[in-house]
Amino acid sequence: MAVIPVALAGRSYEVRAGSSLLANLAGEAKDYLRKDHVCIVADVNARDNWGEALARSLQSAGIEPRWYDVAPGEGSKSWESLAQLTDWLLAQGVERGDHVLALGGGVVGDLTGFACAILKRGCGFVQLPTTLLAQVDSSVGGKTAINTAAGKNLIGAFHQPSLVLVDLDTLSTLPQRELRAGYAEVLKYGILGDSDFFAWLEERGHSILALDKETLEQAVATSVAAKARIVAEDERETSGTRALLNLGHTFGHALEAETGFSERLLHGEAVALGMVLAARYSARLGRMPEAQAERITKAIDLAGLPAEISALSLECDGRALTAHMLHDKKMDAGTLPFVLLRGIGSAYLDREVDLSDVAAFLDEQLQAH
Ligand code: GLY
Repeated sequence: MAVIPVALAGRSYEVRAGSSLLANLAGEAKDYLRKDHVCIVADVNARDNWGEALARSLQSAGIEPRWYDVAPGEGSKSWESLAQLTDWLLAQGVERGDHVLALGGGVVGDLTGFACAILKRGCGFVQLPTTLLAQVDSSVGGKTAINTAAGKNLIGAFHQPSLVLVDLDTLSTLPQRELRAGYAEVLKYGILGDSDFFAWLEERGHSILALDKETLEQAVATSVAAKARIVAEDERETSGTRALLNLGHTFGHALEAETGFSERLLHGEAVALGMVLAARYSARLGRMPEAQAERITKAIDLAGLPAEISALSLECDGRALTAHMLHDKKMDAGTLPFVLLRGIGSAYLDREVDLSDVAAFLDEQLQAH
């Protein structure tokens, strides 16, 4: 098992990644469990697959699991779901010193984390992420949120979990497409800040996607350690360091918006293609060598992720895509900071990007291939 500390003044916690963590939950999370019962907010699929093992562990320690089911999908990150969940947690008598467990992907983690941020002005929670994307990104770092009609994740809070247990066994029941989408975020850590890790992933990407235990654990631990370093440096995304985690997200957001935030393009797939576009645009500006942009494209393509915008068969031009970017919550004082690259492993925040030039670049990309 890998143990990665997230060092935050007064609120440090551990991310533990390995096998059988859910089956041994009572032991792994013992410092955060009440003696009598525990509230578990769960994605229904995750509960179907892992609920029994988890419940067995709790019951053997005399702890009664109390389940709250969440339907899969972004629709569950709504005001209504938040109201229902907080009402339920209050009815269960959750106290400020208690910990609620969040079992599932980013939707459950974000919703539960936000509910815990506001319940009695803040109670504890433990993340039990069951998707690769949640394991390497959303469960770590304390961003919690719901969606509103105005956009995704616009209402939320920074609220750190007390513990994150990444049970890698859960990836065996994850659909391949979602596994690949999560792998885009693993690649992201190499591309934005660690060229050695990127080179290691170029060699071992197939073993990770084939769920080779040792390689997977190392990939997840390295990704989480990278995120932990960034969060420790810039927890509230004020200095620009944490914003580097948005590599691929500005282009990706435009593509997700154009495809209606639908199954047509999963978030991780949009980030993958967004990273290709950020790399190619950086090369077009002369900031990084073309050959490095092509290495990034190849790694993404080999992972079975979308690497060409033309594959989406969009019926729009570059300007329509940059128009979506203007609704991005990353807008800052009327400008849109872009995460660009000086090379593999060297991302930086560029506040001077000319959106009409980006639109022209996207027109070229839409016409190519
Ligand atoms: N997912 C980006 C962040 O946690 O900052």
